[in-house]
This record gives sequence, structure tokens and C-alpha cells, in this order.
Amino acid sequence: MAVTQNLFLLSAMDVSMFKIDPSQAQQTVTVLLDGKHKALPAGMSVAAALLSCGEIISRVSPSSKKPCSPHCLMGVCYECLMEIDGSKKQACMTEVAEGMVINRNFTQEEDN
Ligand code: FES
Repeated sequence: MAVTQNLFLLSAMDVSMFKIDPSQAQQTVTVLLDGKHKALPAGMSVAAALLSCGEIISRVSPSSKKPCSPHCLMGVCYECLMEIDGSKKQACMTEVAEGMVINRNFTQEEDN
């Protein structure tokens, strides 16, 4: 019964950011990542785009001071939290866009 309910919930969610749109597969957008211009694949979440380019560190844990990486990629764990266009957002739930400003604030202590 619980499995059936979970499958229903998953099918009701918008999972479009987890699919690569074939028409955008070769397209890129340029973002400002930690103050440097970086080309990322278009049509996916910020977290997925960064991971696809080998940028696996999303933030520094405020408690352990160790680097964190996106974990769930579906808005549950908050390990992908970063500053996107001036406000803290879940990178896995935000679609990457041209001109986006992304700061991972590696040197600043985060407050949750
Ligand atoms: S990776 Fe878990 S909330 Fe984004």
C-alpha cells in the first residue's frame, strides 16, 4: 500500500528538471559561478549542471566545516543550498539560466 502511494506521489511531481530535453542537449548557458564565467549545460537544474561539469562541492557545512555535495537531487536534503541570484535556493530545484549569478560562499560561515 505504501509503495503504491509513493509511486502515485512521484508520478504527480514535476520531474521535468531530471530529464534532458533533446532539443537543449547541446545548448549551454553562461553563468557567473563564484565570480568566474562558466558555461553550463542548459535545460537542467543548477545542481545537475554543476555536477555534470565536475563541480561537486555545493557548500561548506556550518557545523562540521566540511564540504557538502548535492545528495538527493529532489529537494529533500538541502545539501545543495547555495546563493542563486542573491537569495539562498536549493540548486536541485532551480533551473539553470543565462546570466545567473551563483555563489557557493565557501569562505563564509553559513547560518541556517
Ligand atoms: S540535493 Fe537534496 S535538496 Fe537539493
